[in-house]
Amino acid sequence: MKSLNSEKETDSLFPDSADIPERFRMNSPVIQHEYLINGELKAWNGDMQEVRSPVLLKGSSGLAGPIVGSYPMLTEKESMEALEAAVSAYDHGRGYWPSLSVQKRIACVEAFLSRMLLKKEEIIHLFMWEIGKSLKGSLEEFDRTADYIRNTFDAARDMERVSSKCVIEQGIIGQIRRAPLGVVLCMGPYNYPLNETLSTLIPALIMGNTAVIKPPKLGVLLHSPLLAAFQTSFPPGVVNIVYGEGKQIVPPMLRSGQVDILAFIGSSRVSEILKSLHPKPHRLRSVLGLEAKNPGIILQDADMELAIRECVYGSLSFNGQRCTALKILFLHSRLVTAFLQGFTEMIDRLKCGLPWEEGVEITPLPEMGRIEFLNGLIEDAKNNGASIINRSGGIVNGTLFHPTLLYPVNETMRIYHEEQFGPVVPVVPFDDIEIPIRYIIQSSYGQQVSIFGKDHDVIGRLVDILINQVCRVNINCMCQRGPDIFPFAGRKDSGEETLSVSDALKVFSMRTIVATKDIHGNRKIMKSILSGRRG
Ligand code: G3H
Repeated sequence: MKSLNSEKETDSLFPDSADIPERFRMNSPVIQHEYLINGELKAWNGDMQEVRSPVLLKGSSGLAGPIVGSYPMLTEKESMEALEAAVSAYDHGRGYWPSLSVQKRIACVEAFLSRMLLKKEEIIHLFMWEIGKSLKGSLEEFDRTADYIRNTFDAARDMERVSSKCVIEQGIIGQIRRAPLGVVLCMGPYNYPLNETLSTLIPALIMGNTAVIKPPKLGVLLHSPLLAAFQTSFPPGVVNIVYGEGKQIVPPMLRSGQVDILAFIGSSRVSEILKSLHPKPHRLRSVLGLEAKNPGIILQDADMELAIRECVYGSLSFNGQRCTALKILFLHSRLVTAFLQGFTEMIDRLKCGLPWEEGVEITPLPEMGRIEFLNGLIEDAKNNGASIINRSGGIVNGTLFHPTLLYPVNETMRIYHEEQFGPVVPVVPFDDIEIPIRYIIQSSYGQQVSIFGKDHDVIGRLVDILINQVCRVNINCMCQRGPDIFPFAGRKDSGEETLSVSDALKVFSMRTIVATKDIHGNRKIMKSILSGRRG
């Protein structure tokens, strides 16, 4: 690797605790002894998992990540207790929560949201120390999640308005509405731990399901300020939270056959294992957001400045740790010199530093082993003929991995196929547009693509082909999930089901119908049943 770990440089990038502005300092670790089951915050006296920050600090024995806190390492016994609490709160659809009206369920979530807003500062602080997300990125995730919840209220009310009406067709009166499915197991990812947990949990709850949450491996403690909010906002058993080693506590819940929906954001490998544990897999609805390898295709007439800017942020925001990140660029060979030069200048200017620093773009990587993995991909690419193009490419300072541009990349290299989930940008030159098209068709993934160009005929033809390969084609802009009212999905190994503010309400429910023949007194019975619905 290039000038790997220059100690002097590394030292200058990480501070003494005293150098950190007071409001961002990691003062007292969060020792979370409690977990939530059946409306009770239970105290745990067993093993605890220590959480160390990826944000390193200078100390007497060199650089080290300070302790952010610790959380309980529960066992199968507690995870099954949590599941039983959710199962009994649902009570085959006869429980208090699934019988409540949507409006009353929304009122509980509104109460939760108000309590969550009060915890914003604490949560943002933990975001930065626990997963190294920038202050700006952490605030965005928090606010986006709050907006998502508010928009879900509107979408649920709209859905209710439509379903409260009766339809008369061929002499049959029917009221079609959406009903809950049962118990949802919510497992979010570490890169969007708050957003992608709550953007499945909240619609699931509003539709009348009950839940067990298992927070991601990293980004656990940032949920701790919400424990009391969950406890006080929802009836017992509606929301339960378990902590611990996923391999120990998750499989028993699935094996029991009592999980009705698996809402999981992570890898296709793990999702396959989890799904296969359910004794009756056809009864399990899976809502999955999985890995991706979104390509950017830069056509020969692309607006260079725009393409460079979108590709830099598309591939490197939050260090490339977004499932929607651009993870491979196909560059028309006529543009190589100008594009690589512009791209290089821009990424070498990106500020690498600490999450709370003004203008910081590249922050410490939280995941153990990710740096070795990225180094492995780079070495493999170099051995197969690629070079690191930018000056600071390949430099690692502690947990900071500098953005690295690799060129020319081809199909013999691991990075051509594997998701890097980090700040490494592989560029493949092409003359024949069939090269990126074939790549996308043959890829195991099918989430999104970005096309950069000006000729609407060429772009139109590409859109027609690619829209049947991926779920979103972006023109002259990077890949992304938002706005959250847009459908977000993945084909092949990139996901299952569609999420968006309104789609999520559908995914976590099913259409049911109350019907009768339009004869005799049936109309009166229908009217009285529907208007007299309790809850
Ligand atoms: O990691 C996957 C996220 O859902 C991506 O969301 O495109 O808004 O960053 P984003």
